[in-house]
Amino acid sequence: MRMIDLIDKKKDGKVLTKQEIEFIIDGYTKGSIPDYQMSAFLMVVYFKGMNREEISNLTLAYVNSGDKVDLSAIEGIKVDKHSSGGVGDKISLIVIPLVAATGIPVAKMSGRGLGHTGGTIDKLESIEGFKTELDSDTFISNINKYKMAIVGQTANLTPGDKKTYALRDVTGSVDSTPLIASSIMSKKIASGADAIVLDVKVGSGAFMKSLDKARDLAETMVEIGKSLNRKTIAVITNMDQPLGHEVGNANEVREAIKVLKGKGAEDETTVALTIASYMTILGGAFKDFDSAYRSLNNIIKSGKAIEKLKEFIKIQGGNCDIVDNPEKLPNAKYNIEIMAKEKGYISAIKADSIGVAAMLLGAGRKTKEDKIDFAAGITIVKKYGEKVKKDDVICVLHTNMENCTEAKIMAESAFKINKDKPEDIKYIYDVIK
Ligand code: URA
Repeated sequence: MRMIDLIDKKKDGKVLTKQEIEFIIDGYTKGSIPDYQMSAFLMVVYFKGMNREEISNLTLAYVNSGDKVDLSAIEGIKVDKHSSGGVGDKISLIVIPLVAATGIPVAKMSGRGLGHTGGTIDKLESIEGFKTELDSDTFISNINKYKMAIVGQTANLTPGDKKTYALRDVTGSVDSTPLIASSIMSKKIASGADAIVLDVKVGSGAFMKSLDKARDLAETMVEIGKSLNRKTIAVITNMDQPLGHEVGNANEVREAIKVLKGKGAEDETTVALTIASYMTILGGAFKDFDSAYRSLNNIIKSGKAIEKLKEFIKIQGGNCDIVDNPEKLPNAKYNIEIMAKEKGYISAIKADSIGVAAMLLGAGRKTKEDKIDFAAGITIVKKYGEKVKKDDVICVLHTNMENCTEAKIMAESAFKINKDKPEDIKYIYDVIK
């Protein structure tokens, strides 16, 4: 088999076989296929697409390029969730203890942030002592005993996807449905969960900017999951403004604590309860959405969810005092207020600009090697649809940097103020089962 023939075959709009896709991913992972040929192939896929069978085969080829996690020693239906990437997205921090509190085992494998979207592992590491590198025995025994554990992605999990993703990032081929779907699903399949809830984000802070594209991605991933015997549900959620009020790391942990105490922002609480509901339904705890949603809300109200968060932090080696004393989490030296330039209603908060501004303040990485400042981030004071007067504080930048002019300009430009009240927005667009 020759790579050039497979590029030509796809260029002619033909369907690649399982063996041909395996040849490409295996060759690229091992280095026998060079970057320039892989780049050409990715661009052909970007324009010609792939059918569902090809996408499933690509997913499997990524899975088979590295290690697979064996969770068979864990009792019950193991559930996992994955977000396609957002700004202020702290849903995992909320749903892990919440779902575990119902007795459903949550086996969570998470990544770090890159670019304008944050990563759950970075957020958790803002808690003193919190360990995200667990050996597999501890991971499994924590799930059996406490029904929850989280680990960072191991170096050899789906290396084919890792190498391809890095190439896509610099060759303009990230926002392609077959390539995103196979990339996300390969990591979920390799991490061994039986059931997966996908949070597909749509809007200015997401890879998918239109609802049609998000729905196509969601349907594709659900089909891949099913074809590989994983119970899969995708929830399409709004990412036209940052989720909740906090974007960063330590401040996002503070906000997750609020949600688990029943004092969270409406958008965040709704999305978290929806994702958690489907996780518990797939795990077999509840039969229907309404009873799941109601019961999870009651778990929050009863104080059981926040106690489970304390337990979660403790078993991962972290200082759980921060739950009762969130001010003990890292705080920034400078807190810079940004004011409204005119009166009116907040008609847009560009989530991607807020994500980039937070990264510039130190909350994210420009390159993989950058170190994160856990205290840095942004508080969104005024959300979409809120009324403001001139000079009202609309957001606060938290940083340890003396000069943050670029971040200030970026954050300020993310807010649009209109004299008319904008239409209400939906937090949840659709659920694909
Ligand atoms: N997240 C992934 O893991 N892969 C993609 O391609 C896009 C988002």
